[in-house]
Amino acid sequence: TNGITTIDPGYKNTGSCESAITFLNGEKGVLRYRGYAIEDLAEQAEFLEVAYLLIFGKLPSKTELDKFHDDIKEHSHVDEDLKKILDGFPKSAHPMGVLSSLTSALVAFNPSSVNVDSEEDMYNAIVRILAKFPVLTAWAYRKRVGRPLDYGDDSLGYVDNFLKMMFKKPNGEYNSNKTVVDALDKLLILHADHEQNCSTSTVRMVGSAHTGLFASLSAGINALWGPLHGGANQAVIEMLEKIKEDGGDTHKFMQKAKDKNDPFRLMGFGHRVYKNFDPRAKIIKKSADEVLADLGVQDPVLDIAKGLEKEALEDSYFVDRKLYPNVDFYSGIIYRALGIPVEMFTAMFALGRLPGWIAQWREMRLRKEPIGRPRQVYIGETLRDFTPLKDR
Ligand code: SDX
Repeated sequence: TNGITTIDPGYKNTGSCESAITFLNGEKGVLRYRGYAIEDLAEQAEFLEVAYLLIFGKLPSKTELDKFHDDIKEHSHVDEDLKKILDGFPKSAHPMGVLSSLTSALVAFNPSSVNVDSEEDMYNAIVRILAKFPVLTAWAYRKRVGRPLDYGDDSLGYVDNFLKMMFKKPNGEYNSNKTVVDALDKLLILHADHEQNCSTSTVRMVGSAHTGLFASLSAGINALWGPLHGGANQAVIEMLEKIKEDGGDTHKFMQKAKDKNDPFRLMGFGHRVYKNFDPRAKIIKKSADEVLADLGVQDPVLDIAKGLEKEALEDSYFVDRKLYPNVDFYSGIIYRALGIPVEMFTAMFALGRLPGWIAQWREMRLRKEPIGRPRQVYIGETLRDFTPLKDR
């Protein structure tokens, strides 16, 4: 062997970097962004403020936040030619595939975003993608529903403007709803970063080759798409719907989840690091009750979700494996109440995780981390002679 004696599948016990951005303690269910408790940020901050905190390491003053938002507004246009790429997709294309393609395509329209060695170049690329990604996300939705691809209103807040781009009527009408804006703002904060998860590690890996920010983010979007990762929020609602259609017998599905021969998994449960309640799930569960009550929305799958959670917390299979609801278990119930369709749920996760990916990519570049190149333990054939085709 080349001196490598052990491997660590899934990097369960491998630290890939030092980072000052997010701290989580899986045993205690603690999550902090730059030292601030997620509970405080979710309750008291707004998403753009948290984006600034994650990326630059401190809570912005009002002046700093206003300048950050102004710099973002400066770049909120997307080249009309990108619409031609979007037009090439069938309406049925999954928004995550559309978004990873358009994010990568953005490089062609923003060549200055590639070679970013100075902090100033990085800042210019960062405000551009923070401005354009909500537009692309809204356009991916509008394309699916056959609505015009245009803009919101930059005088609104970042999240309100996004919602206007998503839902404004053909006559331009859009009624901003504080409950909806606040609920989405909180959800985006809760998704904003999560240390070295699969998609963030992917952004770091791709970025470590000094690929530009946008292309690194495109790789992260693809990693997040997976049903074991961000795609779980879509899979949770599809699972809950299936249980509802099947008569709502949660016990039957709990048995399936425990049956090793049954591929069925309780989506939205379990976590690589949290071996206690995911603090984000706690906040989202509370918010789901509040938002649905505020909006007067009854959603039968919420009761099914609560039934599953109750049963799992009393079931030794789940308790022994420390499987608790994670961030994806309740989030879809709120997205749905806000009028966001299930195919867009993982795109909403990406919109929230964008500042975290950016912060981690920036930290990796500023710390001049080496290109990622793990080793392996070779288990293949030893040396053998080549047999020409005519003799095979
Ligand atoms: C996210 O990493 C992050 O921080 C991710 C994330 C973020 O913010 O970036 O938090 C976001 O991705 C949350 C996770 C969303 N995924 C899901 O909800 C999908 C369902 N969950 C599982 O697939 C699983 O729990 C993972 C992927 C989340 C974690 O997988 P691990 O750490 O590799 O754990 P594992 O698959 O080895 O499971 C350990 C045991 C196994 O049983 P045994 O082989 O020990 O008998 O627990 C079982 C698993 O079979 N198990 C489950 C289960 N999750 C784990 N059994 C039933 N249902 C489940 N959901």
